[in-house]
Amino acid sequence: MEKVQLDKNFFIPMPVTLIGSMYKGKPNFMAAGWVSRVNANPPQIGIGIHQSHATIEGIEENKTFSICFPNKELLVKADYVGIASAKKTDKSHVFDVFYGNIKTAPMIQEAPLCIECNLVHTYKGPTNTFFIGEIQGVHAEKSLLQDGKISPKAMDYLFLTMPDNNYWSLGESVGKAWSIGKQYKA
Ligand SMILES: Cc1cc2nc3c(=O)[nH]c(=O)nc-3n(C[C@H](O)[C@H](O)[C@H](O)COP(=O)(O)O)c2cc1C
Repeated sequence: MEKVQLDKNFFIPMPVTLIGSMYKGKPNFMAAGWVSRVNANPPQIGIGIHQSHATIEGIEENKTFSICFPNKELLVKADYVGIASAKKTDKSHVFDVFYGNIKTAPMIQEAPLCIECNLVHTYKGPTNTFFIGEIQGVHAEKSLLQDGKISPKAMDYLFLTMPDNNYWSLGESVGKAWSIGKQYKA
């Protein structure tokens, strides 16, 4: 395959998530794609947040946050909370809010899956802060479960690609992980 060099960028497809935190005593949500697994046991997850966002203050103050996964039905609201900042607009009524084990990690009732976290590490980059949280609770819509596991199809996960800035939904499964590789013959 012939290669060309492009401008420096990430090119990693991202999950579309909604980060929940308390901002000035009210629940606040922002859209986020910079989300990653960090440690298997205990389960830790990281989020990269630009230092200009209200969410930074909420997480630093309470040392807690949540990560909810919207489906297609929530796309307009998800994008909206990725445009408006709590610094100028009260977003506390955009979603129905519930709380789990942590009382300062607001989660979204209408989102099919939400994770609540305690902050355990903070990495401050020049423009973005990477917060690592330890998972304290996972709340999934009962109808999404198949044999006790989340069905990705039923979940209706959304993805974000940049720099083209598009939302995508999950396509077809193209192979079984930790399995299809066994077909390889040297
Ligand atoms: C789809 C999408 C994904 C985004 N991902 C991130 C992200 O991962 N990190 C980030 O800092 N901002 C991200 N943003 C921007 C914030 O969501 C946006 O600036 C938001 O208004 C910040 O809200 P706040 O000031 O209330 O915290 C994203 C926006 C959109 C629309």
